Amino acid sequence: MGVYWRKGLEIGVIEIDKQHQSLVEAFNSFLLACRNGKGSSELLELLKFLDSYAIQHFTTEETIQKASSYPEYESHRLQHLGFMKKIHDLKGQLTSNDPPQINHLIAANTVLLDWFIKHISGSDSHFGRYLFETNYFAESDAQ
Ligand SMILES: [Fe+2]
Repeated sequence: MGVYWRKGLEIGVIEIDKQHQSLVEAFNSFLLACRNGKGSSELLELLKFLDSYAIQHFTTEETIQKASSYPEYESHRLQHLGFMKKIHDLKGQLTSNDPPQINHLIAANTVLLDWFIKHISGSDSHFGRYLFETNYFAESDAQ
């Protein structure tokens, strides 16, 4: 079991693709820790990483969306907020409980990872196509 970066996940924006790759790698090391029975001790680390890195990453996307007048900016931003809420909810459950339980590990894998992969291959790749079709980078010279 694992999640690997693959060409099909690229949206064609170098900075965003690199950030997505880093996020996939963070999930991957967490999955590896789960497989080695160390998921519980790694979960909080993953959530801490996601908490800060996801904000940075979402800001990158939203900045380009605004600059390119992406028509779906607002709904895309709401999806990002939904993801942050999932992280905070999971973190909240952990700090009020003893060591993370198996249900927390499953939640991290299914709720967070599934959301993330679907978001990249759906909404983010839609955004990538928009940038390509509107020739954004050729005109702005931003990449
Ligand atoms: Fe996004």
